[in-house]
Amino acid sequence: MQHFASDNYAPVHPEVMAAVAAANDGAAVAYGDDPVSARLQHRAEEVFGERARIFPVLNGTGANVISLMAAAPRWGAVITSDVAHVHTDENGAPERVGGLKILAVPSRHGRIGPDAVDRYAGDLGDVHRAQPAVLSLTQVTELGTVYSVADLKLLADTAHAAGLRVHVDGSRLANAAATLGVGLREITTDVGVDIVSLGAAKNGGMLGEAVVVLSDDGAAAGPAGAAPSEAVPYLRKATMQLASKTRFVSAQLLALLGEPGTPTSGTPASAATPSGSAEGGPLWLRNAAHSNAMAARLRAGIEAAGLLEPGVGVDLRYPTEANVVFATLPRVAADRVREHARFYDWAPGETADRVEVRWMCAWDTTEADVDAFVRVVGAAL
Ligand SMILES: Cc1ncc(COP(=O)(O)O)c(C=O)c1O
Repeated sequence: MQHFASDNYAPVHPEVMAAVAAANDGAAVAYGDDPVSARLQHRAEEVFGERARIFPVLNGTGANVISLMAAAPRWGAVITSDVAHVHTDENGAPERVGGLKILAVPSRHGRIGPDAVDRYAGDLGDVHRAQPAVLSLTQVTELGTVYSVADLKLLADTAHAAGLRVHVDGSRLANAAATLGVGLREITTDVGVDIVSLGAAKNGGMLGEAVVVLSDDGAAAGPAGAAPSEAVPYLRKATMQLASKTRFVSAQLLALLGEPGTPTSGTPASAATPSGSAEGGPLWLRNAAHSNAMAARLRAGIEAAGLLEPGVGVDLRYPTEANVVFATLPRVAADRVREHARFYDWAPGETADRVEVRWMCAWDTTEADVDAFVRVVGAAL
């Protein structure tokens, strides 16, 4: 199937498949008390720092809901961007399941700034207002942009100064680290992030993500007034995110993060082959660097083919800083392209005749896929 729809359309990376098969070795203790999950915990300490506690879960929405519940008291609120997945694309799960109010603030290209915290600081201590307890950032943002290390540090410092915890929806954290040329730790633990929803499915995994608690600093939160790392195991069960055969989720995460003792980062080989055979560090980095490179190639290909013509041809939206290109184009042309490859409409576009679309690349997208797609777009216009 030819597509530029989502990185979760991609198949499972063979190294992840092999890790799942290797974990299928006789019986093991259920619910995460198995040797593979123990290795994953060890690896998380190497990757994120020794205070890190990793909890495999079943999907990204679950990781977000558990993270936010663990970080906020029952009367808490979550400050996030108006395009945040937790606000727009989780059917209100943080509110329905987590019981937390979402306070969505205007974003620019998907990013928010420290004024997001300032805007609600006056609510702190006011019994009539849901109490801001967490600043939730998406990295990579929903619009394909990336917070820099400096951005993150400033946001985390501002949130902490106001008494808030910092959550990162890291569904595509690997892509952000690959873009910035840093390890996962530099954009989380080292800048003061407290809790992360760590993506795997969009990075070559099969099924599963993780909650990673990086710090228990701050007021006891969670439904029972517990520290986040104490609350997550109970919340994971109560929200139906604890798999009895957790070892198979852990095996996938371990395949992506690398076995204990291996390099935690590396020089991304941006031309890594879809088979993942290229050198260049752990699998998370190879896959992310490759999908980012394919999106850069797509954007450059559209430009080089002379398809950019505001209001007439393709109009590119937002900087392409990771593995996705947003564009507007005539609706009829988009529908012609759709006959060849699947992708999502994102917004109506500026006129009735134009549509905004999202073209996303994955670890298995090839240069030939990208070049053929550019030709199809050219022909459709
Ligand atoms: C930014 C972001 N966060 C969270 C999720 C949720 O993942 P899931 O579909 O596994 O619940 C997604 C999925 O598309 C996402 O793009």
